Amino acid sequence: MDSKPVYLDSTYPTEARVEDLLSRMTLEEKIAQLNSVWASNIVENGKISEEKLNALLKNGIGQISRLAGATSLPPKEVAKVYNEIQKFLVERTRLKIPAIVHEECLSGFMANTATTFPQAIGLASTWDPELIYKITSVIRKQMRCVGAHQGLSPVLDVARDPRWGRIEETLGEDPYLVATMGERYIRGLQGDDIRRGIVATAKHFAGHSFSEGGRNLAPVHVSPREFREVFLFPFEVAVKSAKVLSIMNAYHEIDGIPCASSKELLTKILREEWGFGGIVVSDYGAIDMLHSFHRVTDSKEGAARLAIEAGIDIELPNLNCYYEPLISAVKKGFVSEATIDEAVRRVLRLKFQLGLFESPYVDLSEVPEFLDGKDEYRSLALEAARESIVLLKNDGNLLPLSKSIESIAVIGPNAASTRNLLGDYSFTAHLSLTKDAVPIISILEGIKRKVSRSAKVYYAKGCEVTGNSKDGFEEAIELAKKSKVAIVVVGERSGFSKEDTSGEGRDRSELSLPGVQEELVKAIYETGTPTVVILVNGRPLAIHWIVERLPSILEAWLPGEEGGNAVADVLFGDYNPGGRLPISFPKSVGQIPVYYNRKATSFGNYVSSDSKPLFPFGHGLSYTKFEYSNLEITPKEVEPIGEIHISFEVKNKGKMKGDEVIQLYLSDIVASLTRPVKELKGFKRITLDPEEKKKVTFILYTDQLAFYDEHLNLVVEPGTYEVMIGSSSEDIRLSGSFEVVGEKKIVPKLRRYFSHTLIE
Ligand code: BGC
Repeated sequence: MDSKPVYLDSTYPTEARVEDLLSRMTLEEKIAQLNSVWASNIVENGKISEEKLNALLKNGIGQISRLAGATSLPPKEVAKVYNEIQKFLVERTRLKIPAIVHEECLSGFMANTATTFPQAIGLASTWDPELIYKITSVIRKQMRCVGAHQGLSPVLDVARDPRWGRIEETLGEDPYLVATMGERYIRGLQGDDIRRGIVATAKHFAGHSFSEGGRNLAPVHVSPREFREVFLFPFEVAVKSAKVLSIMNAYHEIDGIPCASSKELLTKILREEWGFGGIVVSDYGAIDMLHSFHRVTDSKEGAARLAIEAGIDIELPNLNCYYEPLISAVKKGFVSEATIDEAVRRVLRLKFQLGLFESPYVDLSEVPEFLDGKDEYRSLALEAARESIVLLKNDGNLLPLSKSIESIAVIGPNAASTRNLLGDYSFTAHLSLTKDAVPIISILEGIKRKVSRSAKVYYAKGCEVTGNSKDGFEEAIELAKKSKVAIVVVGERSGFSKEDTSGEGRDRSELSLPGVQEELVKAIYETGTPTVVILVNGRPLAIHWIVERLPSILEAWLPGEEGGNAVADVLFGDYNPGGRLPISFPKSVGQIPVYYNRKATSFGNYVSSDSKPLFPFGHGLSYTKFEYSNLEITPKEVEPIGEIHISFEVKNKGKMKGDEVIQLYLSDIVASLTRPVKELKGFKRITLDPEEKKKVTFILYTDQLAFYDEHLNLVVEPGTYEVMIGSSSEDIRLSGSFEVVGEKKIVPKLRRYFSHTLIE
């Protein structure tokens, strides 16, 4: 009897299996591994088409592009289709290679009935990396059970321009915060054993958030030093510390070179410098765009060649440049087979690591009818939504409200809406569905559940998110007049359609509340009824007028399925808000950029305003007060390779239990090159009971002081460093300093990225 080929025998080491399999492959079979096919191209009316399987997958396939995130099929049906596709590949193709199935998972698995967590900008507002880990652990289970292996998240773009519609998909404006949250996102999604995990995809490599004018896909202008320190930093951490297994290129160009054809980015930095060993997938259609959009080549063949030589292994989402054009490019000698082999090796290696050959199928009896069916999933969605809410302003302590309040007017286009609580990569918003995929609690509903039975809760929409009609104003004003308090829920609508004001492709040239919403807020405010504003939006808004006049403002972002309950918990004091802004709010569009870690020279005034933000990075209030004391920094002097302990006490001085997000900022007082005024180097969210006190110690590593010097070497320079402990980037409570002594040092390749925190 013939023995099993080496590649099908799991007792062999992965590399031996890869080489054995590669040596058996024809050119067509190799190139098939560099491609993906839309699952929906193989399915007709919810059923697999034999004819299409034979036509599209006869030589095997690298990946299958999302089915769950492109159709309304219930999870069991999705799993069935994936099993059948794998069965075809395993039983009816020559080499029996299963496919990697990819799906989207930014704010939860983008699938019918899956849990919808807060959008990424809200998750960043929690400043709670362990919470992100818990969330992506749930996402991992929900994806794996239907047969998916790769998720196209997280977004590690550092956000600096709120005009860009994709701000909501990011983890904010600070590279340290993005890297910390991103690291936990990746670890939670990939899990301890990738055979049961989901391959995370860090995107969009790189600098996608920094486009000209905040316009999606526009060129990015960035200097090499800033590029590395700000935009590449979270990716470097993802590769070197979180061991991310996939990277997706970005669509834009930098200095004339599209990222999809940048060998510098995709090979030199990513693989040679950082040692990335996973797969690079193209953003959807990005390879074709090399000829159809960027016009750096005149054919699909040319596009395929540029991309494969730059380092993109797999083209998503469908058979295009990497299919026939790439085969013909190799046959004509434009692309060497050795280049193809390298990419195929990476794809096969990942398939072996995933254990696909040993278990290509999922057990259908384990796929629930309803992915979000467990109480623990909804509780986690609630916890995340609560933690993400930021109390921007609370003059006169209007909040929290009493539950025995007699009457409330709940007003505004986002008050009763469930749809508008979702981000652009949630299932409902992405597919523009009219019906929610999971039960979603609106803010109106959350409030109704919270107040006493005798309380009167009135509701009027007032106006739409967009459009000029004020027909609903009168009713809203009447209701506000007869109520003890008015709660006005305004903001944006996220998604991909023309009605949407935030999300991919929904960039804005102004940052006021869309439509006539600001006028609605004014009209309600002018009734004299105490008014609370709740923002449900994807990006920072320039709402100067509102901030100056209205006493209490809550930022809820796009809080997901439990958003309404979370907001009500905060409004009525069942939960004390502790979220912090991961991005600065501008006063006006003309002020952009307003991120906190600028250079000292960037803070000049305009004729009619200063250059400070409306709300700074790290800002967020609480219903209690925290007092900081007893800063100690040891040692006072440190060599360029060493650590510093920064300790102090934080006490809850109020009457309510609450969360404080302690922020550690550093400033390099004199350096050989100009440095930002301050930079976040550590943070910790802690919970304190009334009168409770905790000692907090940040262990800061000197590697974290490094910057790229004039030769682009990563160095730590001697000199004085100012330490600032803050409750926000502008609310610094304690400060001190330490000295780095000795010679300037080049930082080793394996460096420390994060400080550690001890709580006693
Ligand atoms: C986005 C990616 C996304 C892809 C597929 C693209 O337009 O840039 O972030 O993964 O679509 O959904």
